[in-house]
Amino acid sequence: MCGIMGYIGKGNAVPVIIDGLSKLEYRGYDSSGIALYNNNQIETVKKKGRLSTMVEKLEEKAGIDIGIGHTRWATHGVPSDVNAHPHADCTGQIVVVHNGIIENYAKLRKDLMLEGHDFISDTDTEAIVHLIEKYYKNTSLEKAVRKVLKEVQGSFAIAVMCVNEPDKIIAAKKDSPLIVGLGENENYIASDIPAILGKTKQIYILEDKELVILTKDSVEITDFDGNKVHKEIFEVTWDAIAAEKAGYEHFMLKEIHEQPVAIKETLREKIKDGLVDMSDLNIDEIFEDTEKIYIVACGTAYHAGLVGKLAIEKLAKIPVETDIASEFRYRDVLWTPKSVMIVVSQSGETADTLAALREAKRNGIKVLAVTNVVGSSVSREADKVIYTHAGPEIAVASTKAYTTQLVIMYLLALHLANVKSTISKEEITKLNNDLLKMDTLVEKVLTQQNKIKALAEKYKDIQSTFFLGRSFDYAVAMEGALKLKEISYIHAEAYAAGELKHGPLALIYDGVPVLALITQDHLVDKTMSNIKEVKARGAVVVAICKENLQETCQECDEQILLPDLNPILAPIVSVVPLQIFSYYMAVFRDCDVDKPRNLAKSVTVE
Ligand code: M6R
Repeated sequence: MCGIMGYIGKGNAVPVIIDGLSKLEYRGYDSSGIALYNNNQIETVKKKGRLSTMVEKLEEKAGIDIGIGHTRWATHGVPSDVNAHPHADCTGQIVVVHNGIIENYAKLRKDLMLEGHDFISDTDTEAIVHLIEKYYKNTSLEKAVRKVLKEVQGSFAIAVMCVNEPDKIIAAKKDSPLIVGLGENENYIASDIPAILGKTKQIYILEDKELVILTKDSVEITDFDGNKVHKEIFEVTWDAIAAEKAGYEHFMLKEIHEQPVAIKETLREKIKDGLVDMSDLNIDEIFEDTEKIYIVACGTAYHAGLVGKLAIEKLAKIPVETDIASEFRYRDVLWTPKSVMIVVSQSGETADTLAALREAKRNGIKVLAVTNVVGSSVSREADKVIYTHAGPEIAVASTKAYTTQLVIMYLLALHLANVKSTISKEEITKLNNDLLKMDTLVEKVLTQQNKIKALAEKYKDIQSTFFLGRSFDYAVAMEGALKLKEISYIHAEAYAAGELKHGPLALIYDGVPVLALITQDHLVDKTMSNIKEVKARGAVVVAICKENLQETCQECDEQILLPDLNPILAPIVSVVPLQIFSYYMAVFRDCDVDKPRNLAKSVTVE
């Protein structure tokens, strides 16, 4: 949550910072601001609303070579001009941008106010800048910031600028991400890689409790105690084009269409001679004698974990518990010895997922991370990592990250089944070959875009909808419902089809649309009975069903047909019509598809 971008160098700071912030808007977009050193003073512009609103207020400024900017997702204090970052001290000479939460801000604020500091916002961040002001007496900015870092509690990535030391930006982090981009006679600080794509490919990834001083031509990293830290330069492989819309109206639509390639890329280095081969990833050492697997994640990644549970239990016969990270971290887990945790996170920065990972490690449990972002916190803290190769996912609604997470879940299930010989070699080979066809099958579904669009147009004014399924279909129903809620703001609920009559059936009324997933051959008759139950109560049923089940599903009002596919692997394909449906529902309802209200892509606070 919240994006930070800072620049110091030879060039024109304003466009660089604005461009960086535009790539970070996915992290929050309820206000934005920029602070620039100009004519021996710091000028700040900040505005409630999207970045474009702030940019409109920004007068053209050339020749400015240092500045910091911020795009906000509100935690403390409503979205407003005054709560937007950067925040300044009483003199207006020191400014700070912050991502995270200062947990002891109330006490700090109270004490500072008693000492005479004037607070003007409701944010936790303002305490940081007044505290720097307090300590910045007869000393350097660096020393003052170091003192503050010892006093603030919680999570933070900050960048600080000061009138008296206009040749530097000081930044520091704990539990919120921060990277340094290395240029020639110019350097950058940012919350995430997309902000600096197209500017440099060389970065440093800051670890917790590290502080960096950026000047035009130097980058000095130390720990919070001042000890020098030597870091390897990390070469970014994503290119700038991958983070652009490439002619699509929205990132989400582009990312939906990128799924065949993302699936292929994710499979690439894990299949050798046509068979799953994860030997290069060295994961066997953590799965030796595994008696239980915990899969922990949030949102869409959690839904991928639900599919992972079904696949691993079915194929590798290892018991799996899939949990929502924010619940898992506070429950009394009865850790089973010989267990492994798998954390799934597109960003690798989700606070709750990271906390669950740390909890597992504290209990001596090995952790495997499945993430899309190389160098992310979970990738660094886990014992082993498997990357999804989805490329940058910019839209808040996750699509290609989900399908590639599913691919990894299946690869893992197959790999473990192979190692443990829990299913026959023939079955493994068959599933393996079917998995290799997934990209083509997704492509086939994408050709139905216009049909699904027409369906969305027809249902665009609905108030409420339900998603049903059994087994793998239920897991996908949950993802479909989340997608629809998230971007079109329509109330949507997912139910296990067999559970309806235990209560939710009372919600069915005349004309309510029900989207039913029907891909599990052995369960089709059961699901059809449930469909008849909702139809009998007036529901209009849209079936997302496999071609071979078309006959059985005839009674449904509408059908979206999926190509013939292995039912175990069906989620990779069956989710795609739901993504397209949600996308067009949001478009027809004039919603901001890529930046839905109240949300941010990366949830780095609890
Ligand atoms: O980066 P992560 O995968 O850890 O993010 C988890 C969720 O915040 C994320 O999947 C969220 O639910 C998506 N916006 C759903 O589309």
